[in-house]
Amino acid sequence: MPADLAVVGLGYVGLPLARRACEAGLDVVGHDTDPAVVDGLAQGRSHVGDLGDRDIAAMTAAGFRAATDPGILTGARTVAVCVPTGLTPSGEPDLGPLTSAVRTVAGRLSPGTLVSVESTSHPGTTEEIVRPLLEATGLRVGEDFHLAYSPERIDPGNGRFSLRDTPKIVSGCTTLCAKHAAGFYEQLVDEVVVARGTREAEMAKLLENAYRYVNIALVDEAALYCERVGIDVWDALRCAGTKPFGFAPFRPGPGVGGHCVPVDPRYLMAHAAARGFSFRTLDAAREVLDAMPGHVVERARGLLRRTGTDPAEARVALLGVTYKADVADLRESPAYAVVRGLRAAGVRVVHHDPYTEDFAVDGVPVPRQASAREAVAGADLAVLLQDHAEYRSVDWDAAGRPVLDTRGTAEGHRVERL
Ligand SMILES: NC(=O)c1ccc[n+]([C@@H]2O[C@H](COP(=O)([O-])OP(=O)(O)OC[C@H]3O[C@@H](n4cnc5c(N)ncnc54)[C@H](O)[C@@H]3O)[C@@H](O)[C@H]2O)c1
Repeated sequence: MPADLAVVGLGYVGLPLARRACEAGLDVVGHDTDPAVVDGLAQGRSHVGDLGDRDIAAMTAAGFRAATDPGILTGARTVAVCVPTGLTPSGEPDLGPLTSAVRTVAGRLSPGTLVSVESTSHPGTTEEIVRPLLEATGLRVGEDFHLAYSPERIDPGNGRFSLRDTPKIVSGCTTLCAKHAAGFYEQLVDEVVVARGTREAEMAKLLENAYRYVNIALVDEAALYCERVGIDVWDALRCAGTKPFGFAPFRPGPGVGGHCVPVDPRYLMAHAAARGFSFRTLDAAREVLDAMPGHVVERARGLLRRTGTDPAEARVALLGVTYKADVADLRESPAYAVVRGLRAAGVRVVHHDPYTEDFAVDGVPVPRQASAREAVAGADLAVLLQDHAEYRSVDWDAAGRPVLDTRGTAEGHRVERL
């Protein structure tokens, strides 16, 4: 029996989609090129924070199976492509995994299939890159098969909104493609929003993350300005945040991380630049955001000096190194740049994070301390990089050490905020 849905790329996006489809009663299969992912799932293990092993057991009971062999895609009625769209080592958009996955799908494409791309990418990707690869089979979009773009909006660690109750944008290369896509996703989510075309849907997703990118840069720069002129930025933000309309609260921090916010705007910037358009708000935001880890390093060095410790002799404990609170994901975390900067100043760096076992930068492990308390007590300075829930109950003054709080959540006489 052909599957109702085949998910290609079983990561932070693909696995929750597969889970939701299983819940909705669909027959679901998955394909991932990483044998560790497929073997782990076969052994009932989830590698994605928002899903537990019990979810995998429920999916398996509902018939879900995954394979590295793309043969598992054959005949699937719908194929959702959820592979990474990251950056190359030189910081350029990397469409390698997407084009490779689409070629795999093309090799198994059968008439009547709906192919839906969920990976984030620049406007035109579906029409100009994905479509020709699929049509190279001789099958035609809108006639023999349907091609859609439906960006994933999943927010890892968000306990309030799930895939089901977050409106899903769908779009198609033709009106019929969009109709098929809407019909498919209506089985999984409460609300489907049909975009005018695939470019509008691609742009909508990039705008959502560009909005976060620019606003985080704005509050980061406000924090730098407030520090310069002696204003408590956290209090200013608390007050501004009471406005019930027209102001979306964002908080300063040590920089941005994860697979989306620092990455997606780069797709937009590169696409614009290739067309001679300079996306100035994004360029300015990038400049501010890229400088934040270095600013944290400078603040840490200044605090060490003020408390009589030579940075080159110091030991600094970083608390929370994942890119987001209460999420185990280290991708693009600003903690990497903070470690590099501190090490360059001769500082010995250790860390604590309830969500990591190992944390290494440039192949050199950053030793892990057993608890936040132990990390603070054994260091000349603690830097709170990520405000995981468990840190809310820490008595920051107990160890008598200075603490640099980059998240504005720690309280104490020895705490200094970004
Ligand atoms: N993580 C998020 O919060 C989030 C949110 C919204 C959108 N997105 C977008 O969704 C897409 C996927 O992101 P993710 O976070 O799930 O990535 P991920 O790295 O967690 O998972 C992607 C999976 O795809 C597999 N893969 C890579 N190349 C493949 C190929 N050619 N064929 C089959 N499998 C392949 C990888 O092994 C991996 O398991 C990206 O475009 C991302 O921008 C991510």
